[in-house]
Amino acid sequence: MDDAPPQTLVSATTPRGEIALRERPHPDGSGSLVHELVVAGVFAMDSLDTSTEAALALESLARTHSPERVLVGGLGLGFTTWQVLKDKRVRHVDVVEIETDLVEWARLGLAPTLGLVARHPRVSVHAGDVAPVLRGQATPVGPWDLVLLDVDNGPSFLVHEGNERLYSPDALRAALDQVSPGGTLAIWAAQREPELLAALQPLGTTEEVLLDVEREGRTLTYALYLTRP
Ligand SMILES: C[S@@+](CC[C@H](N)C(=O)[O-])C[C@H]1O[C@@H](n2cnc3c(N)ncnc32)[C@H](O)[C@@H]1O
Repeated sequence: MDDAPPQTLVSATTPRGEIALRERPHPDGSGSLVHELVVAGVFAMDSLDTSTEAALALESLARTHSPERVLVGGLGLGFTTWQVLKDKRVRHVDVVEIETDLVEWARLGLAPTLGLVARHPRVSVHAGDVAPVLRGQATPVGPWDLVLLDVDNGPSFLVHEGNERLYSPDALRAALDQVSPGGTLAIWAAQREPELLAALQPLGTTEEVLLDVEREGRTLTYALYLTRP
């Protein structure tokens, strides 16, 4: 077990606080590296277990007959987008990421999956807030067959207070207007979100998928909310 502290590869100060990419040795001692992302001054995720980021893509792809156009809100370390790209039915992915610095670091390939995604011929990475995109008030322009949102921990535990508006009933209805017939809106959360589930249910066929992950000796339950209009 290697408990070496993370090294900061690059960092920046944004209107939302510090953003940083860090790396540390994999705790299995294999010599490989674990990458970490800090946003708004707090640890957001690492590359140690990305099963729920992948599940956001896989569960949505499995429910959608023809997922040709995909929108991903929140680049993070790129794992959701990378999983989407493995599905050959997908012709194009728009990724919208609020942190311009992270978009730049992705283009420079400062973490492996980030580089793969940002340079991929079927991907366009857009620097901006996904909220106006979901209201049809900013580019890129929908509709999309899949709209995947992983921008925050969920409405009950926000990192960015400004993201609260993304989860309001009006915003969810507008987001579903950006989803093609037969498509899926999917939202990742770090915990169960009963109010979000209740807000989505009147808007279409809605499922809550619970995902257990073992982390540092604890079982954490993440949740996905999938709605088909
Ligand atoms: C937890 S990470 C996403 C992880 C990603 N699913 C992955 O597989 O690596 C959340 C990302 O959303 C971005 N973000 C937060 N609020 C946003 C917003 N309103 N619009 C676009 N991106 C946002 C953050 O900067 C961060 O990169």
